Amino acid sequence: MRFLLVFPCGLEDIVEAELEEKISVKSIIEENPQGVPGRIVIDIPESDSPRLLSLRSVDWFIEYVGAFNLDTGLRGLDDVYSGIIGMEFNNWFREASSFRVTCKRRGEHEFTSMDVQRKAGQALVDKYGLKVDLENFQANVFLDIVGDTCFVGLSRREYASGRYLVFTHPAALRPSIAYGMIRIANLKPGMTLLDPMCGGGIIPIEAALSTDGVKIYGFDVSEYFLEGAAINAEAMGASEKIVFQRVDCRRLSKALRFKVDRIVTDPPYGTKPIARINPYVFYSRCLPEMRKVLNENGRIVLITIKPSYVREISSKIGLSLEHERTVQHGDASPSIMVLKHS
Ligand SMILES: C[S@@+](CC[C@H](N)C(=O)[O-])C[C@H]1O[C@@H](n2cnc3c(N)ncnc32)[C@H](O)[C@@H]1O
Repeated sequence: MRFLLVFPCGLEDIVEAELEEKISVKSIIEENPQGVPGRIVIDIPESDSPRLLSLRSVDWFIEYVGAFNLDTGLRGLDDVYSGIIGMEFNNWFREASSFRVTCKRRGEHEFTSMDVQRKAGQALVDKYGLKVDLENFQANVFLDIVGDTCFVGLSRREYASGRYLVFTHPAALRPSIAYGMIRIANLKPGMTLLDPMCGGGIIPIEAALSTDGVKIYGFDVSEYFLEGAAINAEAMGASEKIVFQRVDCRRLSKALRFKVDRIVTDPPYGTKPIARINPYVFYSRCLPEMRKVLNENGRIVLITIKPSYVREISSKIGLSLEHERTVQHGDASPSIMVLKHS
């Protein structure tokens, strides 16, 4: 079966490593299909397809039908109709009792996602005579429009992964990026991991789901966010592996009686600005505290939209930069940085 996998740009190596480990994919058919980054097309035996649900680096995936180009103006709706009519859907879809169309759009278009859904639905009714059912559909035809490219695929109900969290932090990190940061941190059994600004707990939870024998701590200054994190951990079956605690990271070294091997964190200004915080002042206070509680051979992995501040402050306090890469997070391109003792 052919699948289109969608993931954050900048994590290509991590997606490929995870695919190799969990699905032993040898046949990557296309990277950046139609020149669109953050997408990969793979072929796998049908019996392996449930394993796609275990991928943590992938945001979502569809059974890939094909792609076509479309005008970004109103004429694009005619392109949707003719593009869908020109595609061959498999027997499973043709025999489905009902379907719906879902459209996700990125870029500037003179039409809405609803317009696209209506037009594509009409094309499928005209071609296959199937019944539309928005609630109790058997097949979901998924249109992923990026600029002037439209990817088309099928999403069965059973493709919905168990990734949904109950509590959403206002500055939530994409779980796929949290997973990527955990991989970059290279955790080993016996190590201790701390996220001193864990918010809704995404980083500790991804660590709990993807490592064994690691002691995991999630701190935050906000009791409210810590409650949300605990609810999320419970929902993901990870609560027994994480200790959540209220700590102000500007006083981290006073609160923590031991040192940690890895700090993986998404501080304020990780992926978006926060009006009431000056990031330079805040980083100048919390980075030295993180350094104090970091083991001699430890690593700090953080994400930030202010990498120049982190570079400048780190060099002043005896931390050196080991690795840096940018990733796509919505409309932002934050940097993931790995720091160690100089
Ligand atoms: C970008 S958010 C983290 C979001 C989290 N990664 C998630 O996906 O849910 C940054 C967090 O830092 C916390 N924070 C801000 N100042 C802090 C401080 N002085 N000590 C500890 N945590 C703090 C905030 O409460 C917020 O939850």
